Amino acid sequence: MFGRRTNEPGAQRKLPAPSAAPAPGPAPASAPPPPSAAVPSRAEPVEQQRHHSEEYYDVKTTVFNALIDTIDLTQLAKLDSAAAREEIRDIVSEIIQVKNVVMSIAEQEELLEDICNDVLGYGPLEPLLARDDIADIMVNGATTTFIEVNGKTQKTGVRFADNQQLMNICQRIVSQVGRRVDESSPICDARLPDGSRVNVIAPPLAIDGPALTIRKFKKDRLTLEQLQKFGAITPQAKTILEIIGRVRCNVLISGGTGSGKTTLLNCLTGTIDHDERIITCEDSAELQLQQPHVVRLETRPPNLEGEGEITMRDLVKNCLRMRPERIIVGEVRGPEAFDLLQAMNTGHDGSMGTLHSNSPREALSRLESMIMMGGFTLPIKTIREMIVGSIDVIIQAARLRDGSRKVTHITEVTGMEEDIITLQNLIVYEITGEDANGKLTGRHRSTGIARPAFWDRAQYYKEENRLAAALAAAEVLDTNGNPMGEGRD
Ligand SMILES: Nc1ncnc2c1ncn2[C@@H]1O[C@H](COP(=O)(O)OP(=O)(O)O)[C@@H](O)[C@H]1O
Ligand SMILES: [Mg+2]
Repeated sequence: MFGRRTNEPGAQRKLPAPSAAPAPGPAPASAPPPPSAAVPSRAEPVEQQRHHSEEYYDVKTTVFNALIDTIDLTQLAKLDSAAAREEIRDIVSEIIQVKNVVMSIAEQEELLEDICNDVLGYGPLEPLLARDDIADIMVNGATTTFIEVNGKTQKTGVRFADNQQLMNICQRIVSQVGRRVDESSPICDARLPDGSRVNVIAPPLAIDGPALTIRKFKKDRLTLEQLQKFGAITPQAKTILEIIGRVRCNVLISGGTGSGKTTLLNCLTGTIDHDERIITCEDSAELQLQQPHVVRLETRPPNLEGEGEITMRDLVKNCLRMRPERIIVGEVRGPEAFDLLQAMNTGHDGSMGTLHSNSPREALSRLESMIMMGGFTLPIKTIREMIVGSIDVIIQAARLRDGSRKVTHITEVTGMEEDIITLQNLIVYEITGEDANGKLTGRHRSTGIARPAFWDRAQYYKEENRLAAALAAAEVLDTNGNPMGEGRD
């Protein structure tokens, strides 16, 4: 059999002991981690995980060790995953027979699944990776793994045998994108083959063992309809967002980590016409544009020698030479802010980007400091004028304390008063209370602004009536029958 060790000289690889240092290079050929401990065997919700007996783990260790003695991992690495699984299945069945292990068919299947995950895949992470309802997986050392489901973080029963097994799996993940993580380069970003984003920070920087964070790639990105169904926006806010996208406002989407910025950006790109040339710049390609005319660009981290880095600024600058009609920047976090604003200012209206901040007002100061830290020696007033001339709308996303995600502000950048940028909220979300289950109650309402600053644009695209109707329908009257205000920020 192909995957078995042969007796030809040179074909046999001396395997390091399961807890030896991870071997660099393509991971399937490196030592598999030792069998994992309390590993849920299937993609079931954590609550339903079956916990195996100590006996099961003893058997697993025996079978696993016998398998490692039999199999030639270098050869196995050359097989595709289905063939490798077949190979392992054959050998494990033989081992079970030879060793006289008494097991039901179902138990054998489970054991096989566990072992395949350990040898070929990401070990104890596999069941979590297989679940579509998980947004993030956070491994804090071998014994602690959290996941985020429906906006709530919860602890799982997933454990690794030890930190070495975890480290081996981290190594296996990052080596797929040609990188390495070890004591000398303990921080690493990578991506799983399915597009999920991965960050590893290893000891000695991570004190209690390797910390692995995975932002799972959602195969089906949410749509504005779904956001409305989930209560993140109201039908009126959805209409307003659609109009903002369609009439080519320049948009910044602001929010904290995991607040739904990328999701919103993706939804907003759905409003772009199919005949526009769109260029996207991202650190790690996440956006899923549906239009036919899209060029996707991705930054590149430096290689092991610290060379060859392509930054977001390089991409955005290059983008301008590519005749884009819209520029979409996945996440603005540095001096590329300057280039994006310039692009927005010089005919690429309808451009969009996300930015990490907790309010529309803070988003502005973050932009300012990104530009100042980029070494542009412009007076603050000039920078602010540039912002006012570029950004039309800021959409604020937030993850509330009950785990729900909301658009909390649709805010316009309207102008300057002296040195201060003026903002005008069109829609705000207000929390009104909390129900018995800890779910927050609240409402989206318009602030009584009947004519947003982008009214002319809306007229140009014949969207003014729809816009006026949506704003009027989102009004909430106070006890005197007047629309509730607070438009100005
Ligand atoms: N309104 C929403 N309701 C429910 N889940 C959401 C909502 N918006 C985003 N999500 C989910 O939250 C996770 C994080 O969203 P993402 O857009 O990547 O956040 P960010 O870019 O702000 O870090 C994703 O799994 C996404 O599918
Ligand atoms: Mg994001």
